[in-house]
Formats: sequence, structure tokens, C-alpha cells
Amino acid sequence: MGVARVVVSLALLAAVSVGQDAISAESTNFTLTADNMSYLFHVDTESGELISDHFGSPVDDFTPAAFVLPWGWHDNLANLRREFPDIGRSDPRLPAIHIQHADGNTVSALLYQSHEVTQGKPVLPGLPATYGNESDVSTLAVRLYDNVSDVSAVLSYSIFPKYNAVARSFSIINNGSSDIVINRAASFSTDFPNLDLDLIEVQGDWSHEFNRVKRRVDYGETTIRSTEGYSSHLSNPFIALMPPSTTESSGEVWGFNLVWTGSFEATTERFSNGFVRVLLGLNSLHTSIKVQPGESFQSPEAVALYSTEGVGGMSRSFHELYKNHLSRSKFTHQTRPILLNSWEGLGFEINQTSLVRLAGEAVELGIQLFVNDDGWFGEKYPRNNDSLGLGDWTPNPQYFPDGLRPYVADVNNFTVLNSSEPLQFGIWVEPEMVNPNSTLYQEHPDWVLHASTHARSLTRNQLVLNVGLPEVQDFIISTVSGLLDSANIQYVKWDNNRAMHELSHPSDEYKYILGLYHVIENLTTRYPDVLWEGCASGGGRFDAGLLHYWPQHWTSDNTDASDRLTIQLGTSLVYPPSAMGCHISKAPNGFNQRNISIEFRGHVAMMCGSFGLELNPEELTEHEAAAIPSIMAEAKRVNPVVISGEFYRLALPDYTPWPATQFVSADGSESVVFAFQQKYTVKPAAPPVKLQGLDPKARYFNDLDNGTYTGATYMNGGLNIQWDRADYQSKMIWLTKQ
Ligand code: DGJ
Repeated sequence: MGVARVVVSLALLAAVSVGQDAISAESTNFTLTADNMSYLFHVDTESGELISDHFGSPVDDFTPAAFVLPWGWHDNLANLRREFPDIGRSDPRLPAIHIQHADGNTVSALLYQSHEVTQGKPVLPGLPATYGNESDVSTLAVRLYDNVSDVSAVLSYSIFPKYNAVARSFSIINNGSSDIVINRAASFSTDFPNLDLDLIEVQGDWSHEFNRVKRRVDYGETTIRSTEGYSSHLSNPFIALMPPSTTESSGEVWGFNLVWTGSFEATTERFSNGFVRVLLGLNSLHTSIKVQPGESFQSPEAVALYSTEGVGGMSRSFHELYKNHLSRSKFTHQTRPILLNSWEGLGFEINQTSLVRLAGEAVELGIQLFVNDDGWFGEKYPRNNDSLGLGDWTPNPQYFPDGLRPYVADVNNFTVLNSSEPLQFGIWVEPEMVNPNSTLYQEHPDWVLHASTHARSLTRNQLVLNVGLPEVQDFIISTVSGLLDSANIQYVKWDNNRAMHELSHPSDEYKYILGLYHVIENLTTRYPDVLWEGCASGGGRFDAGLLHYWPQHWTSDNTDASDRLTIQLGTSLVYPPSAMGCHISKAPNGFNQRNISIEFRGHVAMMCGSFGLELNPEELTEHEAAAIPSIMAEAKRVNPVVISGEFYRLALPDYTPWPATQFVSADGSESVVFAFQQKYTVKPAAPPVKLQGLDPKARYFNDLDNGTYTGATYMNGGLNIQWDRADYQSKMIWLTKQ
């Protein structure tokens, strides 16, 4: 990448027109142009400050900034809309970058020096990031320099015109002769004008992930963060801003997502003049990153995108951008095998005989991939429960006397129903963790995250290995590759079941995440044919960082289909349904005893790219067993549309007892609607399900009432569904373009 480079410096401020459509720089007035979005900022030529001008629907010109009384207590920088705010020079708002210099001062003056435009997008070394070639993306790099501290910054903007998206990151280069410390690093920062805005975030906990929360952007700061060491269940590195009039399907929305798996911070700050600063980056409690002379710090990437098609339009842009320009796995665009996972069916009660029996039962149900979850390893400390064995990744010899190879061969000997394909085998690992009751911990107690002599606090009886250490990285790489070489393993579920607690230094977390990316980069490059699934007690690390390497993630440990509607639709705010793992588990549900029909459970689970079962087939009722073949057939039919189609949230479970979703196939020839009645009510009647994304003039046959209507009729009139007088009813409706 990097053809057609144009470099301009402050000394050459004569009009410069750059030959690319997506980025122009007229006298350092920078215009980033997408299909339906403009992003404008400029250099104040007197001071060298970067000033934000516009991020929104297309505009053609730079216009004078809003007038703010230029005197009083707050003047100078406080009244400017700043693009990369530093600290200490009359701007009292939170900065994007906060550097402590060798003499202890934290003032920075990062001012314009030069810029460069390239087509394509350079890789971010060691970090997950969006990618694309010259026809997908163009990049503007603006070099800033602080001549007092001899520190430079390179602020990078990559515009993906098709998705109305800008990927931003920056680096800080220490040109001086003493260490500097980065205390705060927001990968994305801009100042919006005085607009009335609402904020959507996601909030939750274990088994309660991705609940959509909306609030007004008021004066002062609103910060959403994770200090867990990971992106976490509590929150997610995602926020969206919108005027109060925006709906799910119409109006302006700005979405922001950090491509990062560690702790993060997302802040909106409305200042006295009404301007709204947006910051998204590392959590400053876990920053304090030292940069030595001659070295540089590279921030993670943040993606900001704009839609005029409501919250749903924003989500679809994220989905398509991430499927085409973030996720690198070859499986991203492939349909996924239907799997059966042993966890909820057998738990730790496993051995080779019971597992092979389970695989045999699975195959009769139409399963294509059998997944051996937790419990298969440990010799001195056999993993009979969650207090033992983590870290000792050798098969338990009592369960597998001849190792994994013959056991996996037994699984592969089953033939998938109605095919000649062997049943595939997948395995669970949790390589970043260790139980104190393990040989690994006894040999390497210093490999875990810890702080001085503070007690090492346990969660789920385990400690976190310090993946920032090269020796730990090597251990994980060699252990996981040894495992993958030991048998015919085609899928790995990579779990992670606790947060980071004691850190010897706040920046341990940053180093850990870089170490983790190094490990995963190595393993996914070496084993590209393995289908990798991320998991962190469910959705604790459902983030764009890991989606770069792994195509799918277990969405939540909560498999109750009703709760899952909220969780899955919340996750879909930013991440594509094709990247979600969703399974049918037993009823009544182990979490809440809710008794939901297998059809409803099936419909909820098949809205995800990786569909499967997580139950003991021996416990299926007669009705459930009889329903499975048609559920499998439906899941197979819908999977290509879930993988490559576009997703619409038609009605949200938190607002109506009749939530509904819709996928439209990539070629527009068919569409599938999932409609639900969660609670039967005598009155009122269910509202029509108004569809989206159809060609208004085309005619579509539907298999609900066997009618053929125009797209306009489905979208403006809607489908009326006759629901039974019962809770938890579901329908799957296919539309075929005529
Ligand atoms: C937590 C995961 O989310 C579950 O699916 C399961 O794999 C357990 N860990 C196993 O310990």
C-alpha cells in the first residue's frame, strides 16, 4: 500500500490539491469524503492547532466557526472545537492525550507540522485494525510536534467511503533524551458543536450482557469504562450519539467503537459553550505507559461512523465494515457447522466413553461439529471441578488413556447425517489462566499478575497469567500448538473466565493485551483452517480487537431464549450477528427455570452465525426430539443469509412483547423474518410487523399467509401475525422476491 503519497509541511501552505477523491487537503483544510458523510477539520495557520469543523452529512465548504464570546474566564483553546486536544494550555476539558515529561510537567503543545495522504491503509504493527486496499480506503497522516518537549505525534485518519467510516489512531514519538509517560490516550477525539444529543451505551454483567441504555448528553462528563483488564461484560468499548428525534430506522447517528480488548474509557463532555467532546481510548487508570527516548507509543484504533438511517443503519455499517475489513478469518464469509457443545449437557462429568456416546447422539440429530468443553485435562490435578488443573494442558490420562488422537478419531468416525462428511471435533481451552492447584502454578508462581506481596485475589478459583511476559506468550503458543498438532482438531473455543485484579504496574494490562495479540496472531496464522471462537464467560470480550483474529464469539452464558433476545439484539448494535455463537439449551432453563418451547429457542439461536445445541440429547422430550429435524433444516437454510445478509432490528424486546428481526440476503432475492410473542395479552392486539430493506416496487411471496405483495406493502403496511394465546411463541417467515 502507500502509492501516490503527498507530503505537505507548514512551510508549504500554498493550495495543494490531493489527487484522491476521498481525502483532499486544500491549504491544510482537510476534507474526508465518504458516500454519505463528510469529515472536515483544518489547521489554524497562526497557531498550528487542529480544529474540528464537521462530521456528518455531506458538506462542500469550510464555514466560519460558531461564535463564542472571545473573552472572559474561558477563552483561547477553551472556545475552540479541537481535533486532538492536549492538556495545559487553556482548555479545561478532558484531553485526548496526556503526557508526563521527564521534569514532571504534563503540558503539551502538539501543533501541525506536515501531512501525508496515501491510498490504502498501513497496518498497525502488533495491533488489530481495519484493513483494505487502495480502492477501499485512503489514509491521511497528520504529523504534530511539540518543540518544548521534543515529542511528535502522528494522527492517522483512514476513510472507508462505502461505510461512512473513519478509523483513527495516533502514535507518540519521544525524540528527546528522557523517558516520557503516556497517562491518557484517546484514539478518537473530536468536538461536536452545540447539538442536542442522546447517548446509547451498553451495560450489563455476566449472563446479562449488552443491555441498551440511552441517556441525554448533558453538561459535564459522562464516562463509560471497563477497568476489568478486558472489554468486559459490564460495558463495551462502544457508544453512539444521536439527536433525540432519531429512531431505530431514521435519523442521524454517530457510532464509535474501539478496536481493543483491554480496559477502555468512552467519554462525552458537554462544556459551558455547549460543545460536546467525544473521547474513546484506553482507560487512564491502566495507562501510565513509559516511552523511552527514540521509541514510540501506538494507540489502538477507534472506528467512528455516521449514518442517517437511524440506529439500525449505524449497526449495519459496522457489520459490513467488520465483515469485510476487520475480521481476517477465512470463515468470516462461510456458513458455520452446526455444533453440539458438551458443557451444559455434561459439565465436568466427562470421560472418553461418555463423550463418544454424546458425539454419537449428536450426529443423529444432524450435528456437524462436536465440541468437548471444559474438563478434559490435568494429570496431577485432574480438572474435575473449576478449582483444579487450569494451566496443565495435558489430557487427563484417566479419561483418555491413549491421549486425544484415538478419541478424536472415534469422533471423526461418525458420519454427519445425510452426508458423507466426518463429524468434526473441537476443543475448549483457557490458556491465559491458571489454578493455584496446578503444576504450572507450582513451577511458575511468578507468571501470574500480582502486585508485590498483596494477596492474589481469586475469581472462579483461578489467577491470570501475565501474558505481557514473553515466556508466558511462548508457553501459550507452544501449548496450544502442541494441542492442535496432537489430534485432528478443527475448532477451538478460547475461554477466559475472570478479570484482572492485582497489577504490579497499571501498564501491565496494556502490555498483556499486546502480548495476547502477539499470541493470537501467531496461532491464527499457523492454524488458519481452525475455526476459532472467543469466549469470556460469555460476552466478556465480545470486541472488535478479537474479531480481527477470530470470526465468532460465544455471546453469553445465559442461554435462556427470552433473555438472549435482549442480549443478542444489544450485541448487534455494533457486532454482526454472523459473529455470534448461540445455542439451544435445555428447558426449563438452568438459570431462570423459564420453560420456552424448542421452536422459540431454535429461532433465537439461529439468528446467529454459529448455531448449535448445548444440551444432553438424552434429556430431550419426545416433542423436542421430534422438532429437532425441522429446526436443523431451518438453521441450515437461514445460515447463509445470517452470514452474508443484512440485519434489521424491527422491534426491540425491551419495548414490546412482540420483538422481531429480519435478515435480507446479500443479493436481495430473499428475506427472513423472526417474530416473537414473549407474553400473551388479551388486549391490545399485536402491531403489524413492518419490514425493512426490501425493494419497494418488487413483489415478494411470503410463507406466512402465502400472499405476494410489494416491498412497499411489507414495509409500510406490515405483516399481521396471528399469535396463539400463549407466551413465548415464535415465527420464522420467508419472503422470496418474484
Ligand atoms: C465459561 C464459558 O462461558 C462456558 O461456556 C463454559 O465453557 C465454561 N466456562 C467452562 O468452564
